[in-house]
Amino acid sequence: MRKKMVAGNWKMNLSLEEAMTLSGELIEKLDHHRRDGSPGKENKLPDVVLFPPFIYLTRIREFFPDTKGVAVGAQNCHHEESGAYTGEVSAPMLSSAGATHVLIGHSERRAQFGEDDQLLARKASRALKNGLTTLFCCGEKLPERESEQHFDVVEKQLQSGVFWMKEEQLSHAVIAYKPVWAIGTGKTASPAQAQEMHLFIRRLVEKTYGKAAAGNIRILYGGSCNANNAGELFAQADVDGGLIGGASLKPRDFFQIILAAAS
Ligand code: 13P
Repeated sequence: MRKKMVAGNWKMNLSLEEAMTLSGELIEKLDHHRRDGSPGKENKLPDVVLFPPFIYLTRIREFFPDTKGVAVGAQNCHHEESGAYTGEVSAPMLSSAGATHVLIGHSERRAQFGEDDQLLARKASRALKNGLTTLFCCGEKLPERESEQHFDVVEKQLQSGVFWMKEEQLSHAVIAYKPVWAIGTGKTASPAQAQEMHLFIRRLVEKTYGKAAAGNIRILYGGSCNANNAGELFAQADVDGGLIGGASLKPRDFFQIILAAAS
């Protein structure tokens, strides 16, 4: 049985003070929920991962000790282990700073920083070598969906970004389907559109790795997922949670989304 995951990508938002306030409010809500509930209720909450900007990672990590059930990850990492790459952050640095997860292949990095499939495969490989759970993002742009190329686009992204992994590595990977036309636009994929693509992705995983791996891998939805639509999206058989942008900056909304993924 796959455990759901709700991830909050803060992108390039929040001052340190705002980030601490947000984290504090989130802890309060989670603690309250645990205190309030029946014994064992906290086990039903999804895995929660926060993706703050690099510079806040250690501070936010300290805020969420292991018992709080919230992991912390980075929004990106460099593909090399170390070296003369001014301004970059490596996977070993992330691990040593307490990050356990990393986003690879976010559409904003593909579009704004020219990250291509080949580079993303190198980043994912580096992240996995350093013990980071890798959330690999895929998703089509609007013209690609309108011309019905969305399945081909996603398949190609996964072929080069994920399907080179050995099965053991895949067990440390999560796939995030994030249609670009739904990101930050308020235009969400319908639950049926999300389910259709998630099932397609799971079948691709099955073709490459077999039934067990396909049954185990988590596939998150991202793109204008909010407190109102999360429940319906997460109720789809192959939607294992969400990668949340804008709504993760509002503790009340983000907590509602976490609850929508609770079982
Ligand atoms: P929004 O939830 O703001 O659409 O962003 C999604 C996203 O890009 C998460 O990484």
